[in-house]
Amino acid sequence: MKDLLPDRVAVWQHVETCVREVFASYGYEEIRPPLVEKTELFARSIGEHTDIVAKEMYSFADSNGESLSLRPEATASCVRVGIEHGMFRSPALRLWYGGPMFRRERPQKGRYRQFHQFGIETFGWEGPDIDAEIILVAARIWERLGVAGAVSLSLNSLGTPASRTGYRRALVSYLEGRRDELDEDSRRRLHTNPMRVLDSKNPQMQDVIAGAPVLLEHLDADSRRHFEALCSLLDAAGVRYRIEPRLVRGLDYYTRTVFEWVTTELGAQGTVCGGGRYDGLVEEIGGPPTPAAGFALGTDRLVDLIGITGQVVAEAAPDAYVAVLSEDLREAAQGVAETLRDAGLSAVLHCGGGSLKSQMRRADRSGACAVVLIGSEEWATGEASVKPLRGAGAQTRVPLPGLAEVVRAVARGNAAGNDGARTTPVVVQEGES
Ligand code: HAM
Repeated sequence: MKDLLPDRVAVWQHVETCVREVFASYGYEEIRPPLVEKTELFARSIGEHTDIVAKEMYSFADSNGESLSLRPEATASCVRVGIEHGMFRSPALRLWYGGPMFRRERPQKGRYRQFHQFGIETFGWEGPDIDAEIILVAARIWERLGVAGAVSLSLNSLGTPASRTGYRRALVSYLEGRRDELDEDSRRRLHTNPMRVLDSKNPQMQDVIAGAPVLLEHLDADSRRHFEALCSLLDAAGVRYRIEPRLVRGLDYYTRTVFEWVTTELGAQGTVCGGGRYDGLVEEIGGPPTPAAGFALGTDRLVDLIGITGQVVAEAAPDAYVAVLSEDLREAAQGVAETLRDAGLSAVLHCGGGSLKSQMRRADRSGACAVVLIGSEEWATGEASVKPLRGAGAQTRVPLPGLAEVVRAVARGNAAGNDGARTTPVVVQEGES
């Protein structure tokens, strides 16, 4: 788990704003489920034998003995909310959420125990049109954030649970035939979650995986049509993808479409976004049969990626820094700062005394566009001095009623000349958990 300090927050806010705007532009509505749910909800949806549920949840007994868990993801929460609030009666829902998730993973670059996701979940559409839509939503986010060239889309179909049973049988029988070559994890998964064996990153397993039967070849006819139609929609939208027959995902609820957006820029943890269709989950958790599809993107990884691709994000800097030239003018300075804020500007009021020189240093460090100086002489004539800090312009004396407009003009001038905003090259490699 990591601390996010102010110098990193600008890029986070930039990402958050962009993601929210894109979601809104596709008609998605925000939902805010709690961070804690009954453990059982995650066990039933994500799957008892998945790594997430078996090893990674932060679970605790509530005072009544009930087991609760910090959410490791929010798809299950959205399903629970939808059932509880009767939202699946005639569903046509496009929802989004954002916030922290918790998984007690092995600490590693790009893997955090408190990490952040933005996700969308759709309920009520069974056709490939919505699968294509959610993929386009993600593609637009990459485009807007300038990372489209650094991510690629892998796509697969897991078929229906029925068609998967046949495949599972073929896979288990193949893996049993090569049992001696399986590593410990894969042997454990052989009967609990054999498809996850295909997801192993162990180099010694790659030969076994390469020879395994391919799920796409076991698809039922409807799932095949669904997949082909999705591919056509993506082709029509100009979204490039790679069909990845070994893509299985680490959560059990998926049916048919699954996808991941992956980058090679972040080392081993290169999946920036993952999702797919989960048509059986609402019913499984006790709701009416409801087709569903969604994805979640890892905000921490996306922020890291933006750092690598070299985007520059402007930190928010105040319009004015109001200096206090003597303690008997503190009330006057406080009043002036409030007036600037009333006018819709941002102003930092100097606190704590000190010489003019030290106040100017603070003003400079704050990134403000202008310093507002109020000395006894100015105050006596109902004026203040404005000294632009960045860009051109000399110090001027301004009558107080016109002060806000002068500060605004300086700030605008800076923004237009692009020399006012503090621009911070976003650097990766922050502290890991
Ligand atoms: P997921 O693949 O487990 O899917 O997570 C989605 C994304 O969250 C990952 O691709 C990754 O970027 C990020 N992520 C996951 N674990 C960590 C971690 N420990 N540290 C940093 N980032 C991480 C889900 O959570 C599904 N709920 C997605 C979904 C929504 N499927 C359908 N709807």
